[in-house]
Amino acid sequence: MPKLTVTTREGERRSIEPAANLSVMEAIRNAGFDELLALCGGVCSCATCHVYVEPDYAALIPPISVDEDELLDSSAHRTAQSRLSCQIRLTEALSGLHVTIAPED
Ligand code: FES
Repeated sequence: MPKLTVTTREGERRSIEPAANLSVMEAIRNAGFDELLALCGGVCSCATCHVYVEPDYAALIPPISVDEDELLDSSAHRTAQSRLSCQIRLTEALSGLHVTIAPED
């Protein structure tokens, strides 16, 4: 099972071991982090699953799509590390990934 470390908005850091091939959003929600709203259920239309990805992993995750890019532009908290967590599939190759839940817009 891949390992995923999540830092909350309050700075609490927790490591989890979700099943492989979930999205990062699903893994975070399944682990009980309720501050990640993920209102659209993972179909890339709400941007409420916004996270910051540690730079070490940026090259390992799939490139950002046009839709994801446009949605992230609607966030006042977008940074170079921003991604929508529903668009990242958690494979073994990504084990050790660390994300921080972005502030709510
Ligand atoms: S859950 Fe809506 S864009 Fe990710």
